[in-house]
Amino acid sequence: RRIDWTPMMAEKGGHKHFMHKEIWEQPRAIADTLRGRMLLSEGDIHFEGWNLSADKVRTISKVTILACGTSWHSGVAGKHMIESLARIPVEVELASEFRYRDPIVDSTHLAIAISQSGETADTLAAFKEAKARGAMSLAICNVMGSAMTREADISVLTNAGPEIGVASTKAFTTQLVTLYMLAVKLGRMRGTLSVKGAQEHLTHLTQIPKMIEDVLKCEPAVKRVAREFMAAQDFLFLGRGPMHPVALEGALKLKEISYIHAEGYAGGEMKHGPIALIDEKMPVVVIAPKQPGVAYEKIIGNIEEVRARGGKVIAIIDEDDHHVDGLADHVIRIPAACALLAPVVSTIPLQLLAYHVAEMRGNDVDQPRNLAKSVTVE
Ligand code: AGP
Repeated sequence: RRIDWTPMMAEKGGHKHFMHKEIWEQPRAIADTLRGRMLLSEGDIHFEGWNLSADKVRTISKVTILACGTSWHSGVAGKHMIESLARIPVEVELASEFRYRDPIVDSTHLAIAISQSGETADTLAAFKEAKARGAMSLAICNVMGSAMTREADISVLTNAGPEIGVASTKAFTTQLVTLYMLAVKLGRMRGTLSVKGAQEHLTHLTQIPKMIEDVLKCEPAVKRVAREFMAAQDFLFLGRGPMHPVALEGALKLKEISYIHAEGYAGGEMKHGPIALIDEKMPVVVIAPKQPGVAYEKIIGNIEEVRARGGKVIAIIDEDDHHVDGLADHVIRIPAACALLAPVVSTIPLQLLAYHVAEMRGNDVDQPRNLAKSVTVE
């Protein structure tokens, strides 16, 4: 039998869409992000071109993350990482808001621009504004030589490889991993992390590519969920702590390519409004890997609240967790990662969910309506 291959099909490597290929590339992309940077025996991170001395790093009084869209979501997860490991206060700013106010910035602030393309107009303008007011500057970017890397004192590349699908997937998870490495580096330089402590974090990082390979096996289960809810009008995504940005990202992904209205919320906010939306037609995706502290109990409480109102619960939980077996309508099991890296693993089923819903609805997954890959206008 003859198989007709077009050059485009060859580029997609046997996948129907670039987005699907890029979702499946994540184990390799993340391995590339980590390569050559982990100094396991020293408990440290090597970033090429890093030119901030330990003395200078100790003067940082605040980190301001500037980004848009999905990159802003990785910034929200990065706040958890940097505050927890390096104990520096972090603000995560929407670049389009920051640039039009009169922001308070001084030379003890570190401005971090996060951008896949390195060309997003609002992020670039906000970054320039922070620099002009005296901030140190660092870009986390996927494109070497882009405007943002040219503007930055230090550029850390995410090394995800070209991302063609308009909906960002591997760019997001490689940003998360880069931010985690940055948090470890800052923690070591400020003395909030010991060599041993840092080594533990580096060990967690080395496990991530294999974990992503494992979590991708949930695709058939995610497809079943997609088939059941592909005609839904609304979706709600809930997460707490580092899983809050995952909820935001899951909702954004679904909106972008399936055109279904979706909201991402911090679980604790549900009772302040969104709970009114819940009825038997509402699918609620709850991102609930085990986290230390109260967050886990509380998110299970959210599942109970949704159930009590007839909502349909799709729970993303650790593979050995059977707490919600009788409570959730669907359970997607993921390998257990440490709390700060759980966003990387738990995002994958949400990318697949958005992909399959959009595909089943017959949408143009790689080129969704009204969207551009890189927003270079204001
Ligand atoms: C992601 O799926 C979106 N298409 C969009 O939100 C994107 O993340 C945003 O425009 C920022 O782009 P950047 O990372 O290239 O700056």
